[in-house]
Amino acid sequence: AFQIVVLVSGFGSNLQALIEASRASSSVFSIQAVISNRNDAYALERAQAANIPTFVITATAGQTRENYDQILSQHLKSFNPDLIVMAGFMRILSASFTEQWHHKLINIHPSLLPKYPGLNTHQRAIEAGDDRHGISVHYVNAEVDGGTIIAQADLAIESNDTPQKIAQRVHQLEHQLLPKVVMAIARGEICYSKADGLVYHH
Ligand code: GAR
Repeated sequence: AFQIVVLVSGFGSNLQALIEASRASSSVFSIQAVISNRNDAYALERAQAANIPTFVITATAGQTRENYDQILSQHLKSFNPDLIVMAGFMRILSASFTEQWHHKLINIHPSLLPKYPGLNTHQRAIEAGDDRHGISVHYVNAEVDGGTIIAQADLAIESNDTPQKIAQRVHQLEHQLLPKVVMAIARGEICYSKADGLVYHH
């Protein structure tokens, strides 16, 4: 079966959506392991409750980004996953890491990229007066939130919206879209080739 490793840092509601999708009778993928950069991530409890092996790799004081990423990479190599999914993983990855895992590494980001890479995306969309906002699933390259976009979903910003209210609706969209994209990649409906870029097979 198609095997994924999920990278997390926090609450893990997107991990939960992936766990549920991986257990559906129609499932085409399984989760080999969950890796967190924080030992207090609630996502770890979700993985343990689902009997998925968990690993915590915390950054140590003075450690270079390259060194952290090498250790992360060594763990990933031991799993040899078909796909690595960043589901609320809040670290920037070095160019050598993203090159090494190029087109096996996807991220979910809470904005309609290329708008609002980085943090505080809901606040920034409200302040800009946008009436649409949303989420993107994209391949990861060396540019933060800059890789090829695979899929997006959008929602309306209401006049009385707050970042917290938007975050709830964003999460609902994410829990639909992220498992869908993983399933499409697992089925070979979406792939990336150097020559043609993103390719959809229907
Ligand atoms: C999600 O909204 C995800 O889009 C965002 O963190 C949240 C994690 O929620 N990711 C980023 O901001 C990446 N820079 P979760 O832990 O409940 O899945």
